[in-house]
Amino acid sequence: MRATLKYLFAIIVSTSFLFTQTDKNFAKNGMVVSASELASQVGVEIMKNGGNAIDAAVATGFALAVTYPQAGNIGGGGFLVAHLADGRNISIDFRETAPKNADRDMFLDRNGNVIKDMSLYTHRASGVPGSVAGLIEAWKKFGSGKITPRQLLEPAIILAEKGFTISERFAATLNNYRNLFEQDQGAAAIFIRQDQKSWEEGDLLVQKDLAKTLRHIAEYGINGFYSGETAKLIVEEMNRHNGLITIADLQNYRPIIRNIAKGTYKGSDIISMGPPSSGGILLIQMLNMLENFSIDSLSFNSPEYIHLLTEIERLAYADRAEHLGDSDYWPVPFEMLTSKEYAKARAEKISLEKATPSGEVFAGKQTTYESMETTHYSVVDKDLNAVSITTTINTSFGSGKVVDGAGFFLNNEMDDFSAKPGVPNIFGLIGNEANAIAPNKRPLSSMTPTVLLKNNKPFLILGSPGGSTIITTVLQVILNIIEHDMNISKAVSSPRTHSQWLPDQITIEKDALSAEVIAALENKGHIIKLDKDGKIGSANCILIENGKFFGGADSRSENSVVGY
Ligand code: DON
Repeated sequence: MRATLKYLFAIIVSTSFLFTQTDKNFAKNGMVVSASELASQVGVEIMKNGGNAIDAAVATGFALAVTYPQAGNIGGGGFLVAHLADGRNISIDFRETAPKNADRDMFLDRNGNVIKDMSLYTHRASGVPGSVAGLIEAWKKFGSGKITPRQLLEPAIILAEKGFTISERFAATLNNYRNLFEQDQGAAAIFIRQDQKSWEEGDLLVQKDLAKTLRHIAEYGINGFYSGETAKLIVEEMNRHNGLITIADLQNYRPIIRNIAKGTYKGSDIISMGPPSSGGILLIQMLNMLENFSIDSLSFNSPEYIHLLTEIERLAYADRAEHLGDSDYWPVPFEMLTSKEYAKARAEKISLEKATPSGEVFAGKQTTYESMETTHYSVVDKDLNAVSITTTINTSFGSGKVVDGAGFFLNNEMDDFSAKPGVPNIFGLIGNEANAIAPNKRPLSSMTPTVLLKNNKPFLILGSPGGSTIITTVLQVILNIIEHDMNISKAVSSPRTHSQWLPDQITIEKDALSAEVIAALENKGHIIKLDKDGKIGSANCILIENGKFFGGADSRSENSVVGY
């Protein structure tokens, strides 16, 4: 641990000095690609100290809660998918649950209309957080056994306690969200500068209360969050603001080891996240549909290519709205949706000549086939333990509410439920019964932490934030590598498009398509819209070739590769 302390001292004194090395995107012993350079460093240090990729991922997760508070979290949830060196494929669901006192109409007014923003920016927007339980479970069950909770959390505690210097981009993010912070005393006290001026590059962000909470977790494990002082602070916060989370909700929270979603595509095995995420199922379904076309003959972002992607996305997202929800509460037709036969039958509906209006596309009937801010990080170690984690508090900085005295943002994941059939959530996604709110149920997610294997060895670890666009981002990165022969940096940073059945449109990044391609697509009947943020997803990936690791940090955000 002396090395860790020395390193932490160094980052506090001068973060920039450490990070000037070049050729950071290549390594042989271990690698972390995350949304924060400091957090990636924390994970790599853990591996250098004898931890495996799971230990590293857990330490990175806690560090992200400090250095990337817009999405890194202890107040939210997420999913872990991993291929372990011993050959096991695992997934851990640490998605938030609806509080026991939640009910299906909790976001509706007396006339049955959805109350604007109630599922987003109130204390009722929060599900019971799962991240601490999930990360600790991962460490306990799949860690190396050589790293203690104290070692896992110490870097995060120091970063919170002593502070870290913020980048220009992060300063701008904090300034952009000032209005949100102003609505919550706890958030304002930490995330607005004390002199009320705008944040600037090089300012120190100190989070003393968060340090204290992390210290409780280091000392008492999950009880440091779900019981005792932290739990008391969460419940007091809820009681002051009409929130629903009780002490019983916190104490009853359990992460769940789930069966992975498994598929194949042209010689690769795909392991990804099943319900309550829709990500793995939709990814596998879309790749299965694509196998019915000669996609390898279509060039990148040509009209024919985008048309085909759009048509398969339309079909898959129609199924999402109808069939997907928390499988503990709803009979998700898992086998059907991921089967090659079902995909073939769905693919036969596609015309290569013209767009099918979404109004004419419906979810597949169940048949006898049955048998705006999140963060993704990828980790690999020298033994080829490959870990893929996507975690979130939903939109940037979640509900914007900080637990007073505990220093962390509460999620607004309840918005991922369908508040009312047919009424879109913040990502424009609709749903109905399958994803209706129920006590203790987990809201349907699009998070898609994924690992691709060749000959049972990991060759691609990937995932992305981006709400409903997560799944199509992961799909496009996979296609960029397998079909378009791009290297990993190009594969993650190339321009993307997205469609999701409803609204009936193709969303594109600026410069994704030329004027001629847009005209050709419009000619086929597609409606093209420029993405409002100009960005679709932000993929953090690792490609593994001949035992060497190549990091792909998406240039859309401040992502960073650290390896050794
Ligand atoms: O679980 C989900 O699908 C959403 N809560 C993810 C939110 C998200 O990716 C926001 N980010 N850009």
